[in-house]
Formats: sequence, C-alpha cells, structure tokens
Amino acid sequence: PRKPGMTRDDLFNTNASIVRDLAAGCAKACPKALIGIISNPVNSTVPIACETLAKAGVLDVKRVFGVSTLDIIRANAFIGEASGVDPQKVNIPVIGGHSGVTIIPVLSQATPPVSFPQDKIAALTERIQEAGTEVVKAKAGAGSATLSMAYAGARFALALARAMNGEKNVIECAYVRSDVTEATYFSTPLLLGKNGLEKNLGLPKLNAYEQELLKKAIPELKKNIAKGEEFVKKN
Ligand SMILES: NC(=O)c1ccc[n+]([C@@H]2O[C@H](COP(=O)([O-])OP(=O)(O)OC[C@H]3O[C@@H](n4cnc5c(N)ncnc54)[C@H](O)[C@@H]3O)[C@@H](O)[C@H]2O)c1
Repeated sequence: PRKPGMTRDDLFNTNASIVRDLAAGCAKACPKALIGIISNPVNSTVPIACETLAKAGVLDVKRVFGVSTLDIIRANAFIGEASGVDPQKVNIPVIGGHSGVTIIPVLSQATPPVSFPQDKIAALTERIQEAGTEVVKAKAGAGSATLSMAYAGARFALALARAMNGEKNVIECAYVRSDVTEATYFSTPLLLGKNGLEKNLGLPKLNAYEQELLKKAIPELKKNIAKGEEFVKKN
C-alpha cells in the first residue's frame, strides 16, 4: 500500500511483477476464472494481467476486471452526506480509471438526482478523486484504505457471483478492456452475466463539466495503460 507522498503509480515496481505472476498462475490453473484486480496501480495492473493472459493464449477480456468499486462507494458516501440522503440509497456512476484525474464521478447522473452549485460540484469531485490520498495522509505511514477496500472488493465479487448464479440486471462499474473511448481500458457501467461482462453499457450522459474531466483523464489513462503493456513486453 501507499505511504504519505506516494501516488498509486509509485507502487508499480512492486506490484507489476506480482500481478504478472498471479495472472500467469491463473492462465495455468484456472484460465476461465473471472478475475478482479484490486492491486494498484489498477490503471496499469489490469493491462498487465490481460497482456499476460494473452501471452499464454487464454485472454478473454470479458473475464478480467479492475476493481474501482471503492470510488463509487466514496462518491455515494460523500454525496449522501452532502444531500442528507442515506448513502446506501445513493448511486453515482464513477467512470474512467482508479487514480486522481482518471476518476470521473458523473454527478449529473446521480440517483436520486442532486443539485449543487458548480463550486460545490467541483469540490465534491476533487474529494472523490483524492479520497484514497486523504486516507493515506490520515493513516500517516500505516498504509492505505483497508476495511473500505475489503468492503468494495466484497461488493464487486458478490455482484459477479450473483450474476454467475443467473441473477438478472446486475450492474457495476469496473475498469475493463474497452472501446467506449480512446483509452483501451476504461470503467463504465457493465451488465454482468454468467460469463462475466455481458454488455458494456457505455458512457453515461455527460454534462460539459464532466466532458472536461473526461478530456483530462484520457491522456493519463493512455500513459498508465502503455506502461503496463510495455512492462509485459519487456519482462
Ligand atoms: N482498488 C482499490 O480500491 C484499492 C484500495 C486500497 C488499496 N488497494 C491496493 O490493494 C493492495 C493491497 O493493499 P493492502 O493495504 O492490503 O496491503 P498489505 O501490504 O497489507 O497486504 C498485501 C498482502 O499481499 C501479500 N503478498 C505480497 N506478495 C505477494 C505475492 N507475490 N503473491 C501473493 N500475495 C502476496 C502480502 O503477504 C500481504 O498479505 C495494494 O496494492 C493497494 O494499493 C486497492
């Protein structure tokens, strides 16, 4: 995990080879498994897993997911708090990636709908984007988010399990191989099914502010993706 002052990308050197080796193990032991990757930097570790599975000839992009659920949980909590609604009843799509400017909360599509002045929207957006760093700072060297990460991982894994069991209309956002934007991996709402990703529901409707956030996210995502792909090529 991160220490104060570290970005998720600073974890690349430690975690890239761990994720590569675990993906190579999955290719041998369980090539049809649905794989959820929570190790950071998720923007790069998902491409690492996919490239490793591809090398082994078993890549099915519908079965590999980067777990960005914590961003949704944080958005639901902060928006619920700000609007006086139980966070359990709030649903905010959070798209893009899982670090800083690549995290795009789509507050215009919140249910129930919210209406805040633009400066408040900007402040809430930034808090959602930097919430992980807020935890790292508060823990002052003792690591990053743990219990909330476990809750997010459990929520996503259980959503996959429910879909595998035949439940209909299971929808979660996750970071997957994607052709929705110029970035070849991107998180959008996904309909989950028996074999993993059943249908990518694509970009939610974005207002002008959210389109600007998307513009800022794409170059960073592309850089993070290329870094993961290069790592597998060279190692
Ligand atoms: N996606 C998210 O929302 C999110 C949120 C918070 C943290 N994280 C990430 O989750 C990861 C774990 O964080 P943590 O706080 O639990 O870290 P931690 O250091 O407490 O735990 C890491 C665990 O991995 C084990 N491990 C180390 N090398 C391994 C290997 N080669 N194979 C298998 N297991 C190995 C260690 O023994 C340890 O138990 C970090 O990458 C962190 O950045 C992700």
